[in-house]
Amino acid sequence: MIWHLLGAGAMGSLAASYLQSAGFTVEALDVGHHEPGKDGLLRQLKFPGDDIWREIRLPWARAGVIDHLLLATKAGNTQEALSPWLPLLAPNVTLVNLQNGMGQLDGVGLPDAVCVVSAVTTSAAWRDGIRITVVAENITVMGDGGVSPPDWFASLAQAWPKLKWCQSIRARQLEKLAINAVINPLTACHRCKNGALLSSTYQPEMRDLSKEIDKVLTAVDDNWPNDTLARATDIAKRTAENTSSMLADVLANRPTEIAFINGWLVREAQKRGIAAPLNAALVARL
Ligand SMILES: NC(=O)c1ccc[n+]([C@@H]2O[C@H](COP(=O)([O-])OP(=O)(O)OC[C@H]3O[C@@H](n4cnc5c(N)ncnc54)[C@H](OP(=O)(O)O)[C@@H]3O)[C@@H](O)[C@H]2O)c1
Repeated sequence: MIWHLLGAGAMGSLAASYLQSAGFTVEALDVGHHEPGKDGLLRQLKFPGDDIWREIRLPWARAGVIDHLLLATKAGNTQEALSPWLPLLAPNVTLVNLQNGMGQLDGVGLPDAVCVVSAVTTSAAWRDGIRITVVAENITVMGDGGVSPPDWFASLAQAWPKLKWCQSIRARQLEKLAINAVINPLTACHRCKNGALLSSTYQPEMRDLSKEIDKVLTAVDDNWPNDTLARATDIAKRTAENTSSMLADVLANRPTEIAFINGWLVREAQKRGIAAPLNAALVARL
């Protein structure tokens, strides 16, 4: 089995290293303008507690059908990244999506029988050139809506720390989206670390935004627990010193993923005739 990797950044390289440790072959999809080279890509990873850089090599993909695909570009690059490879996708391709956000696969032209396995992770890694610093290896859940994992999952779970199969993956995705929809844009707008959102200055904004997110998600999912403020507060406390990925993107002058986080909420609200002005304002601002 060959896994093809689209997006050999922080998350994609980390996942590729786990796949290789599990004994799978991983090949990078060459997009021409991304680091063209003779043989493929070199990445060096440093794991928590390590003081050495571990090298992984990702050869360029050979011509042929793609039946296992790992998607790890930023959400906003999904369409342009996938487009050249659509003709090579097997009709029943398995696509493991490591991206944050929701809605990025809508209308991109995937085969009808695609099996999308969504991943939700609280692991964290950042990239500087070819070097990936893995900050934390936390719980990762994957699921495709089914009860049983696919055949490849058991081997991967032996190499990927704290990886679990999750039957209710959509609920986990919505929970992560809700937390991201609070912490990411507020820290990016106010240029502050996550913990600063707990100060009295930002609490009213955090509370009102959480309430609006709960209103939208209650309409999306009958079982929505309505606890976004409590969850976001807990994460802001536990990651008080962290810079959110959206703030990091803003500071580095990169596009943010807001169109697939708060933007997705706004689109879901519009479909149902619900007002989501706070989310819409954040999308417009960022
Ligand atoms: N990093 C984390 O800790 C973490 C944790 C949880 C979830 N995530 C999610 O994982 C996703 C990836 O994040 P990341 O931090 O890994 O970002 P990243 O380091 O910027 O990696 C994205 C990669 O995609 C590549 N890329 C962009 N356009 C492409 C294209 N058209 N074809 C092929 N490759 C393309 C980029 O190449 P260039 O750099 O050459 O443009 C880069 O290597 C995001 O949705 C993020 O929210 C990340």
